Parts: sequence; C-alpha cells; structure tokens
Amino acid sequence: MFKKTLSIGDSQFHVIDHGQGPPLLLVHGFPLNQSMWKFQISKFAKTHRVICPDLAGFGLSQCDQPRATLQNHAEDLSQILDALNVQERVIFCGLSMGGYIGWEFWKHYPEKISGIVACNTRAANDSPEVARARLISAKSIFKTGTQVLAQQMAPRLIYGKPQELKTSIQSALEQMIESASPESVAAGQVAMSTRHDATSWLPMIDCPTLFVGGQYDQITTAQEMSNNAALIPNAQFVEIQGAGHLTPLEQPESFNTRVLEFLNSTHFRRPQ
Ligand code: MLT
Repeated sequence: MFKKTLSIGDSQFHVIDHGQGPPLLLVHGFPLNQSMWKFQISKFAKTHRVICPDLAGFGLSQCDQPRATLQNHAEDLSQILDALNVQERVIFCGLSMGGYIGWEFWKHYPEKISGIVACNTRAANDSPEVARARLISAKSIFKTGTQVLAQQMAPRLIYGKPQELKTSIQSALEQMIESASPESVAAGQVAMSTRHDATSWLPMIDCPTLFVGGQYDQITTAQEMSNNAALIPNAQFVEIQGAGHLTPLEQPESFNTRVLEFLNSTHFRRPQ
C-alpha cells in the first residue's frame, strides 16, 4: 500500500495510492478520514487503482486555510489527481459529505469522471433549521474543539449489533473526529450549510451511478436515496441490510460485494 504526501498550494495531502486498473477515488465523510475505508482499500485495489485521500484539515492532511466550500474540496481532489498523474477518468465514490463533494466534482470536472458511487448521501441541501444548527455547532467547535461533536455524532452514525462491534466502531469514530483540526471541522459545517442543492443536476448526470444506502441510516434515509437514484437516467439503488450511515464500515462484506458488482459491470469494461 503506497502512502504519499503531496504538497499542493498551502496544503500537504496524505493520500493512499494502491493497486492498478481503472482509477477509483474514495472520499470520506464528515468529519472522518481515509481510515473509514479500511475494509475497502486492499479489496478494491485487486482490480482498481484506489486513490484515497484525507481531505484538507482531516486525518493527516494539513492546510493553512480551512476550506470554506465543498467546491474547494472538489478543486483539491482534482489537483490531487493531477499531481498523481491520473489521466484516465475516475469512478468517484463518496460517502455522505464525500458524496456532496462528488456532485460538485461532477459539475466542475465532468471530463474527469466515468462513474459515481454515492454512499449514504443526498443531492438536496440543508433545510434552514439544519443550516442554522450547523452554524451553532461550528461556533462551538471553534471555541471548544471537536470532543463534544465526537460524542454526539459517533452513536448517530452507526446501527451496530452486536454491542461489542458497535462499541469498537464508535470508539474508532470518536478518535477520527477528535483528531481532525477543529478549524477544518468548523469550516466543514459552514461549507455543508451553504452547499448547492444538486437535485436539478441529477437528470443531467450521464455516467453510470450506484447509490448505496443503509437500512437504518437516520441521516440519509434509504427512501431519499432511492428517490435521488430515480432522477438519474443510468442509476441504480441498493440498500444494505443491518447498516446505519456508515455502510462500508458496518457491513463491509455486503457493501464490497455490491460495489464490486457495479465496478466490474460492463459499463466500465476497457476495450480489449
Ligand atoms: C457525513 O457523514 O459526512 C455527515 O453526516 C454529513 C452531514 O452532516 O450532512
């Protein structure tokens, strides 16, 4: 597994670049880091070139200027692909905030994308109440750090049984959240609160798209994801049983099977 540090502008990006084949970009959710894909990286690298960064200010990636918009994160991803000399179109696989960034990436870099895997995410933007709550949360994170957010958020992200599994995932999540830079986490809340509503973009997305939802996801419901999938001409929706908001971590086997079926489907066969 190749771990790289890329210096781009004001930032040092920590990126895993592993395997060979069609490029697959894995983009983590808020306020996590690349380790949320720990059950996918080696598995998908058997058939794909897996590129898995920590976004600016999260995990081990550092930046002087926290990113104020999700478009800024999409720009970073485009620059990371350029720095890694990725010339082929990528399959963009993002979870939740990673998925919101995916819509921006599609909007601004359609020539760089061959397919989308939208995990536990949605196209709509925040309601005014949710946007307000994010700004309150951003202020508190700025003042007191990420600890309270970690304790509030980690249990909401997963539906776990047995209890032991739930506890171990939850403590890994708390560690991920507490290790992120408070300024970047606060900026992430602000960026999500002002993000575009991508619903009207969906009918224009002409690359193959797979939506993966969790049966018990409280944050992005399976119903909403299935409605989003119906708006994209070439999209399918699968629901992973027994998972909450973090299907790749909670139900890695079912998640990997369904995503690999999609990745290895005829849509992405290279010409011989
Ligand atoms: C995430 O998992 O990225 C967040 O739950 C997204 C959100 O807060 O809308």
